[in-house]
Amino acid sequence: MNTLEDYLDIENPREANMITEVRSFYRKNFDLWKSMGYHFKTPDTYLFEFKKRYPGVVIEHSLLNRGLNFVNNKKKPIHRWTSYLEGFSDDFVYEIINQFELSEGHVILDPFAGSGTVNVCAMMKSIDSIGIEINPTIYRILETKTCWKTDPKLILDEYNKMDFSGEPSTRAPSFMKVDRQFKPEILKRILKIKEQIELIEDTSIKSYFDLAFITILLPSSNLRRSPSIGYDKKQTKNIYPELPVEIFKKKIEMIVRDLRIVRKSVKKPGSSNNFCEDSKVFSLPEDIKVDAVITSPPYLNSFDYVGNYKLEIGWMGDAKSTKDMQELRDRMVLCDNVSRKMIKEYAQNPPLLSIDWLDYVTAAVEPRMRERLGIRRRDYPILLRKYFEDIYYVLRRMYDSMKSGAKVAWVVGDSLILDVYIPTDLLTMMIADVIGYRLKRLEIDRVRRSGVRRSFILRESILFFEK
Ligand SMILES: C[S@@+](CC[C@H](N)C(=O)[O-])C[C@H]1O[C@@H](n2cnc3c(N)ncnc32)[C@H](O)[C@@H]1O
Repeated sequence: MNTLEDYLDIENPREANMITEVRSFYRKNFDLWKSMGYHFKTPDTYLFEFKKRYPGVVIEHSLLNRGLNFVNNKKKPIHRWTSYLEGFSDDFVYEIINQFELSEGHVILDPFAGSGTVNVCAMMKSIDSIGIEINPTIYRILETKTCWKTDPKLILDEYNKMDFSGEPSTRAPSFMKVDRQFKPEILKRILKIKEQIELIEDTSIKSYFDLAFITILLPSSNLRRSPSIGYDKKQTKNIYPELPVEIFKKKIEMIVRDLRIVRKSVKKPGSSNNFCEDSKVFSLPEDIKVDAVITSPPYLNSFDYVGNYKLEIGWMGDAKSTKDMQELRDRMVLCDNVSRKMIKEYAQNPPLLSIDWLDYVTAAVEPRMRERLGIRRRDYPILLRKYFEDIYYVLRRMYDSMKSGAKVAWVVGDSLILDVYIPTDLLTMMIADVIGYRLKRLEIDRVRRSGVRRSFILRESILFFEK
């Protein structure tokens, strides 16, 4: 087994300082594996081999936790309109903008734009940007957060016309379990708010109200999301009839305030050109070439971006049935809730990538799948393959839209699938290498616990490569 000293440069004081701290994390993994009779490659072995294969790539254990930390954004104008747990911290995006020396005249792409952290930061710095987001409800948020042209007074005027008294004339989405999700009195208020929003004629003004509506759903419901959605069994939430109208009012006031702030303080906001598309297949118009990509894809784990946001997707009418939701999920970069039918069909395609590590992890998962009783799926090897092929397609499309020399910062976590360790960050680098990117640096940003086996320590990395 390789030791940390094998791949960290102990002559370098920064790396030497890291050794004690990092060793204590990985030590726990080794102990756990030993007790299970585990014999597959460990995170250390992969790092060691990677360093040998790509001697030019710098590997840093910075552990600064600067990447995915949306909590930091909760007080920042515009960012704070929604709370996307899977979002970037704006400070991180600014750091990368500085590091890549981006300024007015440059264009940044985020092919997994989510709630638009990268695009909003770019606007603040007068840099143009492009956001691609596949989920139509999250795309609404992206579009609204990046539209600062509307006069905030018009939003207030529209709000002042609203009347939340009386019986609602709108109906809840029929395929959702609304009676279990909301108390009757709350449901009535939500429907009344929805009815009043439907009366707004100007679509760009309506989009701010739609965003505010999206944000009242979860806090007014009997559900919790942390990060997966489920019923609030302990019933610790304080939900009272006026709550939806109160949150809605506060959100509209926040939107008006923040629009006033940015319209005053950002003299020339960058433009944000957004697309509700699938980054695996979508090509940007020929005349758009970007200077940088700052992004974070879905991780290879069971986080279901559709299931966990079904409340918002259903209420916005962006899916009209469970089948619509499944279709959206199947188009996204893979999570392990995709339909068996889609995976069965996908399995007919010949493998796209020839990467020994990918073959290794796929083969390692096979016996674990047979040994384990009661597992949810029996198609993990294809799931693994499809995740990395999805990533290949996105990286490939990005490449075509990048200027020569354009830089990428890609934040991703690694995974544990059926107790097999998957070095997602290193595999992503290898795929980028196959496509023709120049690999530069891998910064291990933080360590985190596996959601499945809490005692297993995983990491989150920032990958740097360029065209
Ligand atoms: C980690 S989140 C990105 C969050 C974002 N950085 C932010 O600050 O809000 C990944 C996003 O990728 C989106 N996504 C998944 N598959 C996609 C695809 N094929 N094309 C475009 N977007 C996709 C998901 O809906 C999700 O919003």
